[in-house]
Amino acid sequence: MRITMIGAGYVGLVSGACFADFGHFVTCMDSNIDKIDALNLGQLPIYEPGLDELVAKNVRDGRLVFSSELDQAIHGADAIFIAVGTPSRRGDGHADLSYVYAAARDIAARTDGKAIIVTKSTVPVGTGDEVERIMREVRPELDIAVVSNPEFLREGAAIGDFKRPDRIVIGTNDENARRVMTEIYRPLYLNEPPLLFTDRRTSELIKYAANAFLAVKITYINEIADLCEQVGANVQEVARGIGLDNRIGPKFLHPGPGYGGSCFPKDTQALVKTAQDNGTPLRIVETVVSVNEQRKRGMARRIIQACGGDVRGKRIAILGLTFKPNTDDMRDAPALSVITALQDVGAKVTAYDPVGIEQASHYLSHVDFAADAYACAEGADALVIVTEWDAFRALDLDRIKAALKEPLIVDLRNIYRPDDIRAKGFRYISIGRL
Ligand code: NAD
Ligand code: UGA
Repeated sequence: MRITMIGAGYVGLVSGACFADFGHFVTCMDSNIDKIDALNLGQLPIYEPGLDELVAKNVRDGRLVFSSELDQAIHGADAIFIAVGTPSRRGDGHADLSYVYAAARDIAARTDGKAIIVTKSTVPVGTGDEVERIMREVRPELDIAVVSNPEFLREGAAIGDFKRPDRIVIGTNDENARRVMTEIYRPLYLNEPPLLFTDRRTSELIKYAANAFLAVKITYINEIADLCEQVGANVQEVARGIGLDNRIGPKFLHPGPGYGGSCFPKDTQALVKTAQDNGTPLRIVETVVSVNEQRKRGMARRIIQACGGDVRGKRIAILGLTFKPNTDDMRDAPALSVITALQDVGAKVTAYDPVGIEQASHYLSHVDFAADAYACAEGADALVIVTEWDAFRALDLDRIKAALKEPLIVDLRNIYRPDDIRAKGFRYISIGRL
């Protein structure tokens, strides 16, 4: 099959490289010429484990090419995937669909006459209808099918998620589009992930309902963690105790500083807006959005309290900046709320992240970036673990203690055992455990 990906970001690039690895011929097209030029020089615009090897191999084998020319990219394609961004619209939280609609217009103007357009971007219910309307308006004679095929990969585990998905959702009533989509995903049948065919609107809603459900689950365990602290219980044991129930499941029950990233925050907000617009407010999701926002800000208070109630003039060392490990993505990272709140009350901040410093430097100011975890701790009044990179799980605690001014660790990801770390002479504050 010949596949075109419009948008070579986290989703477009990973999906494109994986489809090429299945044996399809893929062109990744992006309107950002610098990105395409870099890709053509073998430089990836994002950090995603394993992606550089996968891209290099498929480029070498002639199955993956990059282009900033739409005509060239879509010529002869069996399916054209739209994988452009759908960020929160400034001011009202609705999904900004301008990139999706611009892509639809451009494709309609240049396609050969027959096309299957597949929306992989996360888009609100009814977007497929609008994409179809726009394309018919631009070229009424076109023979098109517009399919919804939401993506469920996670950053940091994107290749594994794409190649071994729990399910593949395909929203279309068009028989030919169904056949083409089945053929595109055929190489995955070996692992037998369920191929779920639905109508387009249902498919669009499945994506938001899934992300919002996961955000609810995280927020629930975060609130249970707060309760654990008040009543002297251990949230990790509570999570295990409930997660062993198959109806609940053990995943997404890790308490932390609040969910962040390029998707949960924007997708929960967009779902809230869709529901309000349709007169059926989703009160649970509305509450989750506001509880999570408060939680991210509340993390700074926890650190200030641990430092004796005042951090003016004190130096706080932050380990981990990205919204989760194994990515360089800083979009809506909890570290941003934590650091700016600390700076607002006069703290000086040193930070270290294994891969996120370059991205973080675009979002933060007046932060001293350190070369490693030990340099970060040097002379600090407290060490705060914000993102659970593996590299932080087995720190040389004697060295950290010697570097710190005060032996205080605030662990917002529960990566150490309280007893172990206290035995080393630290004061240790974590989440939902005494
Ligand atoms: P991204 O910002 O990393 O990439 C989007 C790319 O699209 C950019 O490179 C941009 O230059 C390009 N682009 C924008 N308009 C274009 C146009 N008209 N023509 C060609 N290229 C264009 O975004 P992302 O994180 O890959 O997310 C893309 C979509 O996938 C979003 O809707 C997101 O919600 C969804 N999604 C993301 C993830 C994830 O882990 N990041 C997972 C599942 C779904
Ligand atoms: C999430 C979903 O997991 C993907 O299925 C989805 O495709 C994607 O959003 C999307 O639509 O873009 P991602 O944002 O990459 O993926 O990362 P997650 O692993 O889901 O983590 C999101 C946030 O929740 C992170 O800040 C993470 O630290 C936090 N989290 C996650 C917790 O605090 N506790 C948990 O138990 C799990």
